[in-house]
Amino acid sequence: MADFIDPKSEWWRQAVCYEVYVRSFADGDGDGVGDLPGITARLPYLRDLGVDALWITPFYPSPQHDHGYDVADYTGVDPLFGDLAAADDLLAGAHELGLRVIVDLVPNHTSSEHAWFAAALAAGPGSPERARYLFRQGRGPEGDLPPNNWQSVFGGPAWTRVEDGEWYLHLFDPTQPDLDWRHPDVGDLFEDVLRFWLDRGVDGFRIDVAHGLYKVEDLRDQVVGQDEQAGSGAVNSTQTMVERDALRDEPMWDQPEVHEVYRRWRKVLDFYDGDRMAVAEAWTQTSDSMARFVRSDELHQSFNFHWLTAPWSAAAFAEVVEQTLSAMALVDASATWVLSNHDVERHPSRYGGGERGLARARAATLAMLALPGSAYLYQGEELGLEQVDVAPEHRQDPSYLRTGEPGRDGCRVPIPWSGDHAPYGFGPGSGQPWIPQPEGWGPQSVAAQTGNQDSTLEFYRRALALRRSVATTAGDEVAVEVVDTDLLVLRRGDLTVVVNTGSTPRALPAGEVLIASAPLPDDPDGDPDAPGTPGTGTPGTAGTAGTRLLPPDTAAWLADPS
Ligand code: NOJ
Repeated sequence: MADFIDPKSEWWRQAVCYEVYVRSFADGDGDGVGDLPGITARLPYLRDLGVDALWITPFYPSPQHDHGYDVADYTGVDPLFGDLAAADDLLAGAHELGLRVIVDLVPNHTSSEHAWFAAALAAGPGSPERARYLFRQGRGPEGDLPPNNWQSVFGGPAWTRVEDGEWYLHLFDPTQPDLDWRHPDVGDLFEDVLRFWLDRGVDGFRIDVAHGLYKVEDLRDQVVGQDEQAGSGAVNSTQTMVERDALRDEPMWDQPEVHEVYRRWRKVLDFYDGDRMAVAEAWTQTSDSMARFVRSDELHQSFNFHWLTAPWSAAAFAEVVEQTLSAMALVDASATWVLSNHDVERHPSRYGGGERGLARARAATLAMLALPGSAYLYQGEELGLEQVDVAPEHRQDPSYLRTGEPGRDGCRVPIPWSGDHAPYGFGPGSGQPWIPQPEGWGPQSVAAQTGNQDSTLEFYRRALALRRSVATTAGDEVAVEVVDTDLLVLRRGDLTVVVNTGSTPRALPAGEVLIASAPLPDDPDGDPDAPGTPGTGTPGTAGTAGTRLLPPDTAAWLADPS
């Protein structure tokens, strides 16, 4: 009899995946830039932290105009980060420790230094080489106006003119020309790339700009209101890459043809053993359109960016959780949760910074970790790092260079491992790494926080361990309630999660406190996780003698009284 495989048991359904921004995680050779051997050497740290998988940002040959998201060769390793043998070592080392590895795939655009683009420029207008990209004649009598009104995500027109007078489309930087996915060579190239990395043993792919790929066929203008500017969702503007005020006409994104690509890729992934997976980075406009990417014959997961844009509010968090779970239920997919990544302001800073920002960040993290589905963590959040105010002369983000807006460098500063001055154990070199680290970061280093039970690092370690024993086993149903505006209560099986987003302490419901994001006030030892301490009864009622209170900006997990 064939073995019955429970489709709900795949590893990625409840995994905690840790995003490694390769330039900034660990530097093995002392040149001030993180690399693959640096990651390999730190794998035991990730195992001990308690994550299940790491997602590594692009490490392929690249001129690094967008720090690797401009790929010149999809099946190599940039010498800055190592070589193919170093990638193999990393994969073997991770698997030995029981960690899975997800690599980044960038199919929407290549680097302008990719062999295909060089050939397209050399071959000239009308050539088959140009047909793999989106070259067009300009508008106006001289053809000196862009072919349509689309704007680049990094600011300015999405078109650049080449010497012979044609224009090419780049939804990001001019060094990132968009591929034409209607050309058969493009699909074939990426199938080969998938197989190349699957054969080497990767466990999954994170698909960059997964909703891009196909543009509306006639490349028509974006329809915008009279007082509105055309846009494709800019970095760090009021309308960010992940936040849309209202539904917009977006002929550059989320076209129906893209789903055929993922059906093809799913077949490739399913051909390999070991539950290989793919997670989409798709900034779709609605939960329903996000769900389309994770239908059972397409990708396995899609990043859910809604929490990134939610304010610190019980009602906003409740909405994120409810909308996400109901959209995923439509297609029987597993949810994902994200509070920080390499494109957004770190969540302690988003919640106001300082002690309060950190307290809120820890509380939001604890709520997220209790939910069904996968949690994607971003390196350094386990250290409670805030966004760094990078001096303009050190900023490198192409969106900053094109717009003058602060950009994303502040969440990409190399993380502190030990010591009290740069490079804080980031690598064997001395002095500052590729983006300078702030002074006074020593107390936030891994070494300084290890063993200090109040530290954010030890809090993450405890929460991740507890998640494995009490959250991932608590089923898929979540009851969401907001009590008196500020108290969010999530019930998942025997686990109750309470988050106080208000400004006064609130009574905890009955049950044993399993973990809290900060010490609870009536705990005589100040031990945030003292097990076995009971709450009272009705959540949120004002405290009476013997009541266990949940301070503002704090979350707790409770086991239901049996
Ligand atoms: C999304 C990536 O996360 C971001 O860092 C990059 O700039 C764009 N895609 C373009 O590839």
